[in-house]
Amino acid sequence: MISNDAASLAIQYDTTDRLATRASVWRDTPDGRNPTRAALAAVVAAEPADFLEVGCGTGEFAASVSDALSNTHVVATDRSQVMALATARHGVLTQVAEAADLPFDDASFDVVYAGWMLYHVPDLDAALRQVRRVLRPGGAFVAVTNGDEHLADLLTQAGGEPLVTGFSTENGRDALSRHFAHIDQEDFDTRAVFADHVAAQTYLATFRPDLAEALPAFEGERSCRGASTVFVAR
Ligand SMILES: C[S@@+](CC[C@H](N)C(=O)[O-])C[C@H]1O[C@@H](n2cnc3c(N)ncnc32)[C@H](O)[C@@H]1O
Repeated sequence: MISNDAASLAIQYDTTDRLATRASVWRDTPDGRNPTRAALAAVVAAEPADFLEVGCGTGEFAASVSDALSNTHVVATDRSQVMALATARHGVLTQVAEAADLPFDDASFDVVYAGWMLYHVPDLDAALRQVRRVLRPGGAFVAVTNGDEHLADLLTQAGGEPLVTGFSTENGRDALSRHFAHIDQEDFDTRAVFADHVAAQTYLATFRPDLAEALPAFEGERSCRGASTVFVAR
């Protein structure tokens, strides 16, 4: 299970380097698809006048929306002040905010995006109610998450268990359908490439230092299966 207590989230997200380490290993699917590009395409296709990202991390996605849609008003939020500051450095208007307590009026945005963050929120339905509230009628919610099989081989080899979360490839549609009438889902068999054993340990240490220590040694580069999903809900 992903640990969502405040102390664990603070360790993961009160610096930007752990997130950067994790992002750096991911490669496209064998047929050349990529969940971030698919999510950006869904946002761009909707041509929002007002766009909100929730849980923006270091802000690359919000910045890419600004670059792609020069007339769109882009706003980003994150519960971590460090992440909000990193995003603001891209020139994006950024606020520190909890997903379950968004500081915006009803019907303020045409598109809301949440990438790899809904599995962290303590009260998923409260966060989804907030997303629904700040979306205009006919607006789109784009969410990206991982599946139960994401890095499952690496985790189990290190003595851990697959990361089964409250918002995943497997259960995300059910959660979204409590708040949205129509949901599209696209799944991605991604790959993580670790240059060597130390690189795999460094990755695991960003969220499970105990598993990093326990990972059996291996020679050379190693490729591991990932599983991600892009949901578009209206
Ligand atoms: C895995 S990172 C993803 C960041 C970014 N969306 C990306 O794809 O690179 C998760 C982010 O969600 C933020 N976060 C976690 N729980 C949150 C909450 N309850 N409300 C707002 N942000 C949250 C973290 O601080 C972190 O920046």
